[in-house]
Amino acid sequence: MPLIAMMALLLTGCGDESLSALKPKGPVAQEQLFLVMLSLGIMIFVFVVVMAIYIYVLIRYRKRKGQDGIPKQVEGNHKLEIVWTVIPIILLLILAVPTVTLTFKQAEDYRDKENALHVKVTAHQYWWQFEYPDLGIVTAQDLVIPEGKYIAFDVIASDVNHSFWIPTLGGKLDANVGINNTFYLRADETGILKGKCAELCGASHALMDFKVNVMSEEDFNNWVAKMTAPPAAVPAEAQRGEQIFKDNCLSCHAVSGNGLSFGPNLNGFASRETIAGILEFTDENLKAWIKNPQEVKPGNKMPALPLSDEDIDELVKYLNTLK
Ligand code: CUA
Repeated sequence: MPLIAMMALLLTGCGDESLSALKPKGPVAQEQLFLVMLSLGIMIFVFVVVMAIYIYVLIRYRKRKGQDGIPKQVEGNHKLEIVWTVIPIILLLILAVPTVTLTFKQAEDYRDKENALHVKVTAHQYWWQFEYPDLGIVTAQDLVIPEGKYIAFDVIASDVNHSFWIPTLGGKLDANVGINNTFYLRADETGILKGKCAELCGASHALMDFKVNVMSEEDFNNWVAKMTAPPAAVPAEAQRGEQIFKDNCLSCHAVSGNGLSFGPNLNGFASRETIAGILEFTDENLKAWIKNPQEVKPGNKMPALPLSDEDIDELVKYLNTLK
């Protein structure tokens, strides 16, 4: 008992609300939570009834004083046999009908539907690329979506298998190499949600996080306008940094709204929630990341560049202009 109590105590420590499937923020997650609760409810009901009968029989038919020999043997009782066959069938039906219904409902393809937003997700070791084919936008690490709208996802992987998971919006979907998996999600309130890679994919699998920025329709349209606008002039104090970026970083990182690149597209970089998906967005963290990316995210494909501290300072000034 103390051992179980301790384990229960430990489990209660596992709750991060922004990563909890028990706090759904959209209809898909809500329906899935309903199925979990329904099956859990049925299981608890069966457990309680069986345990009650078990304990009753144990006490009622225990061996009493003066009772010797084997008790009267009975077998076969039609009424009982029918009862314990019919009840499980009814319970299975209660479980099966909503499960099958919702399974088909959630498999619906929203990609060609009016009013749905199409997003292509590509998983890389260890970052996420989000492409909006209808809007001409490519971004990374922060998935920006409007609230209340169905988002039709195509999910694919570029190197090894990953798994795309936003626990508060719905179950995970495999990101496989060469196979396009598809599903939809919807977020019903604005705010920042967390996403994870849910398939062991290498040294930094546990660090392969992303953010989901759920915006109001209006904010989302503003974001789209900003991402597709021609790049603003780089202020004078960031121009040296821009040159350093062009010489060292541009071969892997695009900075335009619709460019696909080997590394994450950095358009809107300075407006993102985190650096590399995991570090708080501060100049110090950005410098630490550029200086030694392997220490922050082991096994990622960004090399440490032979830049002086002054060069990195200039580079950070430029990166901060990418809003
Ligand atoms: Cu990607 Cu784990």
